[in-house]
Amino acid sequence: MRRLKVMTVFGTRPEGIKMAPIVKVMENTKEIENIVCVTAQHREMLDQVLDIFEIKPDYDLNIFKPGQTLTGITTKALEGLEKVIVETQPDLLLVQGDTTTVFAGALAAFYQKVKVGHVEAGLRSGNLYSPYPEEANRKLTGIVTNFHFAPTNESRENLLREGYPEEKIFITGNTVIDALFHVVKEDYIFEDSLLNNIDFKNKRVILLTSHRRENIGKPMENIFTAIDEITRKYEDVEVIFPVHLNPKVRNIAHKVFDGNKDIHLVEPLDYEPFTNLMSKCHIVVTDSGGLQEEAPSLGKPVLVVREETERPEGIEAGTAKLVGTSKENISKELDLLLSSKEEYKKMANAVNPYGDGKASERIVKVIIEQMRKSM
Ligand code: UD1
Ligand code: UDP
Repeated sequence: MRRLKVMTVFGTRPEGIKMAPIVKVMENTKEIENIVCVTAQHREMLDQVLDIFEIKPDYDLNIFKPGQTLTGITTKALEGLEKVIVETQPDLLLVQGDTTTVFAGALAAFYQKVKVGHVEAGLRSGNLYSPYPEEANRKLTGIVTNFHFAPTNESRENLLREGYPEEKIFITGNTVIDALFHVVKEDYIFEDSLLNNIDFKNKRVILLTSHRRENIGKPMENIFTAIDEITRKYEDVEVIFPVHLNPKVRNIAHKVFDGNKDIHLVEPLDYEPFTNLMSKCHIVVTDSGGLQEEAPSLGKPVLVVREETERPEGIEAGTAKLVGTSKENISKELDLLLSSKEEYKKMANAVNPYGDGKASERIVKVIIEQMRKSM
C-alpha cells in the first residue's frame, strides 16, 4: 500500500511548538510521508522553534512582513499554499490552533479538496472578538475540517454543540504537554547570565507575558501598571518579561516599566530556557494561550489577564484564575497570592487537564486509521 502524504502547515511560535511533537512522530512512522510547510507568519520567533526541534521545512513561504495585517497574512499564505498543495498533492493537511495561518491553511486545502485535520480543535471563548481574531479562526477552520483533534472533553462538547459528527471528533490531549515533558529539567542551568543570576530561592519571581491584540492599548497598560506597582509593594518580588517582538507591545512595556530595576525586560526566549524559567518562577501572569496550558502542569499559579478564556480547564482545576484587565482587580489578585500562603497553596498544585504527553502518538494513529478507510 502506498504511503500516506501528510502535509503539516504552521507559521507562528506556538503552532511550531505544538506541531513539532507530531512532526517528530510522523518522521518515525513508515506509513507516512511527512511534508512540512511553514508560512513563516512569524520569522525569528518561528526559527527559534525550528532550530530547537531540528525541523527543516520542505517549503518555507516566508510571508512575514513587519507590521503585517490580517488580510496581508491571509492572502499571502493562501496564494503560497495553493502552489505547494497543487505541487505536492497531499492526502491530508494538518493545521494546529487558531492563528491566521491555521485558517488560511485549512481554506487552501479545502479549495483543492484536500482533507483537513485540525489539531487543538473545539476551544471556544464564546466571544468572536476575544480572543480576536483567534475565536473566529478556530470556528472558520472547523467548518472545513474532516478530523477534529479535541484536546479535552470540554472542547469535544463544544464541537458536538455546534453539530459536528461524533465520529469525526477525537479526544487526544494537547501536544503542548508532549513538548513540555521533553524540555523541563530540575537541574537546568540558563546560558543567559541575567537569568542565571536571579536568586530563585530568596526572590519571588513573576513570569509575565502579554501580546493579545485585544489587550493592546489601555488593557495592556493596566496589566503592566498593576505589575509595576506590586514590585514596589513587595521587596522580594522580581519580574521577568520576555517581550513579544510586536512593536506595539514593546512600546507599552518600555513606557510603563523603564526605570524599574525589579522588572527585567528580555528578548523572546528559546523554548527550553523559557519553560525552565516557568518551572522555577513563583507566579505566571499572562494572556497567552499556551502558557495557560503549560503552567498548570508545572504547578504554577496563573493569573490570566483576559476578559474571556477558551481554556476553562485550568480554571476548573484551580491552578488558573481569570482576572480580567482592570488594574484594580489584577493588583488585588496579585496581592492575595503574594500575601496569603493559603491562597498560594490552593493554586500551586500540579494538575494536568491538558494531556498526558501522548497526544501526538494518538493523533498520528487516528490519521492512519481514518485515512486508510478512504484510500
Ligand atoms: C500571532 C497570532 C496569535 C498568536 C501569536 C503567538 C494571528 C492573528 N495571531 O499574533 O494568535 O497567539 O502569534 O505569538 O495569527 N513580529 C516580529 N517577528 C516575529 C514575530 C512577530 O517582528 O518573529 C512582530 C511584527 O512586527 C508583527 C507583529 O509582531 O507585525 C505581530 O505578529 P503577528 O503574527 O501579526 O501577530 P501576533 O500578535 O504575533
Ligand atoms: N514561549 C517561548 N518563549 C517565550 C515566550 C513563550 O518559547 O519567550 C513559548 C511558551 O512556552 C508557549 C508558547 O511559546 O509554548 C506560547 O506562545 P505565545 O504566548 O506567543 O502564543 P499563544 O500560546 O498565546 O498563541
